[in-house]
Amino acid sequence: MRVTMIGSGYVGLVSGACFADFGHEVICVDVNQQKVDDLKQGRIPIYEPGLDALVASNAAAGRISFTTDLASAVAEADAVFIAVGTPSRRGDGHADLSYVRAAAKEIAQAITRYTVVVTKSTVPVGTGDVVERIIRETRPDAEFSVVSNPEFLREGAAIEDFKRPDRVVIGANEERAKAVMAELYRPLSLNAAPILFTDRRTAELTKYAANAFLATKITFINEIADLCEEVGADVQLVARGIGMDKRIGSKFLNAGPGYGGSCFPKDTLALIRSAQDYGVSLRVVESVVAVNDARKTAMARKVVRACGGSVQGRTVAVLGLTFKPNTDDMRDAPAINIIDALQRAGAKIRAHDPVGMDQAKAVLHNVTYTDSAYDCATGADVLVLVTEWDAYRALDLKRLRQVMKGAVIVDLRNVYREEEVARAGFDYIRVGAMP
Ligand code: NAD
Ligand code: UGA
Repeated sequence: MRVTMIGSGYVGLVSGACFADFGHEVICVDVNQQKVDDLKQGRIPIYEPGLDALVASNAAAGRISFTTDLASAVAEADAVFIAVGTPSRRGDGHADLSYVRAAAKEIAQAITRYTVVVTKSTVPVGTGDVVERIIRETRPDAEFSVVSNPEFLREGAAIEDFKRPDRVVIGANEERAKAVMAELYRPLSLNAAPILFTDRRTAELTKYAANAFLATKITFINEIADLCEEVGADVQLVARGIGMDKRIGSKFLNAGPGYGGSCFPKDTLALIRSAQDYGVSLRVVESVVAVNDARKTAMARKVVRACGGSVQGRTVAVLGLTFKPNTDDMRDAPAINIIDALQRAGAKIRAHDPVGMDQAKAVLHNVTYTDSAYDCATGADVLVLVTEWDAYRALDLKRLRQVMKGAVIVDLRNVYREEEVARAGFDYIRVGAMP
């Protein structure tokens, strides 16, 4: 089938490359000329494990190409995916649909035959109706259907998530569109991925509900972690103990500095706002947002306590800046708020990240960026692990102790074994356990 992706960011590029790998003919479109030029040269604008090889092999086979020319890419397509950004609208937290609307209008102008227009971007309930109206008003003669097919991939594991998803959700109101979508996803159903067909509005809401539920699960365990610290219990064992119950499940129960990233923060907020438009208050999700926001500065206070009550003039070494490992994405990374709060409390910051340093430099200022974890720790009073990159798991703790001035590790991801850290001569402060 011929597939066109409008938007070649994380979702558009990964989905496009995976569809191509399944044998479809894919054109990825972007308004960003530099991005398209890079992709044509085989340079991948984002860090996502395995993506460069996947794009290269499919480009060589002639199954994926890149362009800024939306009109010709849409003209021949069986399915056109809208995979543009839907950031938080400044001021009110609603999803900003301006990129989706603009894409819908451009698609409308370019349709030449029956086309299935698919919203893959995360969008509030009713956006499919908006896209349909825009296309109908722009081109009353166009033959098309609008389908919702939200994406559930995670950054850092995006290819695996796309190719072997827990499920694919397709919200289609017309049989003709359902048949096109079934054909498109046939390779995944052969991989035994369940495909759930729903109406369009249900699919749109399913995406927000999934992200809000996952954010709730993380926030719940983070609050239990706070309680563990007071009562002398261990949150990792509590998480294992509850996670073995299949009704609860073991995933997304890692306590940490609060969730970040390009999606949970904006999507929880957008869900709250769109529910309010319908007169419904989602009090659980509202609490999750408030608790998670407060948690990041609470983590900075934890570091201050670990330093005996003040970080004024002290040097804090921060390991890991991106919102999670295996990505260079700094959007809403907890490190931003934590570093900001520590700087306001008078700390000097040294920092290291294996991949996200360039992106970090754009948002975090007055920081000494270093070439390695050991360089970062050199002369520091305290070491704070914010993002659990694998490269930090095998650090030589004794060597760290030798290069540091102080002897405190604050591990916000519970990566190390307490005995080993103690043996290296450190005080070890974790999340969800008494020091
Ligand atoms: P992104 O910012 O990485 O990419 C969006 C791309 O769209 C940009 O390259 C931009 O230049 C391009 N674009 C904007 N308007 C365009 C237009 N009119 N024509 C062509 N290109 C245009 O965003 P992303 O992270 O890929 O997210 C896209 C959507 O997918 C969002 O709604 C997001 O919530 C959702 N989502 C993201 C993830 C993720 O892990 N990043 C996962 C699931 C869902
Ligand atoms: C998340 C969802 O997991 C995807 O299913 C969804 O498609 C995507 O959002 C989206 O809509 O964009 P992503 O943001 O890439 O994916 O990363 P996650 O692995 O979900 O992590 C999000 C945040 O939660 C990170 O800051 C991470 O450190 C934190 N987290 C995650 C925890 O603190 N504890 C956990 O147990 C899991």
